[in-house]
Amino acid sequence: ISLKGYNTFGINAYAKHFTSINTIEDLINTLQLQEYQERFILGGGSNMLLTKDIDALVMHINLKGINIVSESDSSVIVKAQAGENWHEFVLWCLNHNFGGLENLSLIPGNVGTAPIQNIGAYGIELKDHFVSCEAIEISSLKTKSFSNADCKFDYRNSIFKQELKGQYIITSVTFKLSKQNHSLHTNYGAIALQLETMKIKKPTIKDISNAVIAIRESKLPNPKEIGNSGSFFKNPVISLKSFETLKQNFPNAPSYPVSNTTIKVPAGWLIEKAGFKGKRFGDYGVHEKQALVLVNYDNAKGSDILKLSQLIQKTVKRIFNISIEAEVNIL
Ligand code: EPU
Repeated sequence: ISLKGYNTFGINAYAKHFTSINTIEDLINTLQLQEYQERFILGGGSNMLLTKDIDALVMHINLKGINIVSESDSSVIVKAQAGENWHEFVLWCLNHNFGGLENLSLIPGNVGTAPIQNIGAYGIELKDHFVSCEAIEISSLKTKSFSNADCKFDYRNSIFKQELKGQYIITSVTFKLSKQNHSLHTNYGAIALQLETMKIKKPTIKDISNAVIAIRESKLPNPKEIGNSGSFFKNPVISLKSFETLKQNFPNAPSYPVSNTTIKVPAGWLIEKAGFKGKRFGDYGVHEKQALVLVNYDNAKGSDILKLSQLIQKTVKRIFNISIEAEVNIL
């Protein structure tokens, strides 16, 4: 079957075999099938670039359900199954007036894949509210619970992208959220500006979500209209020394502080300065409003987008002597 509808890049790659997993029993039974040696675990399909057909059994994780595990006067523990759409889950939390995830509104993808790359935006990361996740080990079919510390979260990174890569299937994620006196994160410049435009002085968590949605809609393409995987690259972390050199040639280079010796430079800025912003090559190109996002306008091949990403990496390296790394999984 075609996977075009299952990856937000909208790449028309084919799966040799495909099954939707709706229950934990389905999952266990399917993992026990002897005839399929190769398996490919598919969540929301929002962080991958398919460069070829998949000669394996594609298992689409479609586990659904959200429930309150426990609560006190001030906070609540909520568990969501892996196949829940991330943004719909955030909206569910907001409708219950549960605070914490509002800055992460409108991020494409599913709950179960969010911990793998520790999704983050506008000053918040998943790890800030993550309590634990349950996962099934593919080799033993045993269920294991991972605490926040177990996951070794870092910027767009976790144990599931490193030493445990490909070994577990996350089936549910548990979060701790606030019920009152929500701590609001409005210090990210764009949010403060947006709230001002909306004439909101005392924002609620719903207002922050609306501000984030407005900002994202103004610069990030909607995958339902133009295929994309959000940021294609990670923002590079470089030494303060390299940043000084960069500043000599480009005094306006933006940056985010990281540590006493390192600093993060927005890859979108580097790519824009390298001349790629809004560049279109037939069916694919670089988004006109955010250079960090590569787009598929219609029927681009994954391999073409991969080649474009390599050209961008080479050019950025040549001009700035900075290496940028793909954030998206290339398959
Ligand atoms: N910039 C440019 N040109 C561009 C894009 C950005 O000059 O084409 C400059 C902006 O002017 C600004 C800076 O880069 O000074 C930062 O831009 P922005 O606020 O849009 O954030 P970002 O660093 O480009 C990161 C995340 C996004 C997240 C935003 C907001 C990564 C790889 N990306 O982008 O995450 O939404 O911050 O927090 O860390 C994603 O991961 O898919 C994603 C969209």
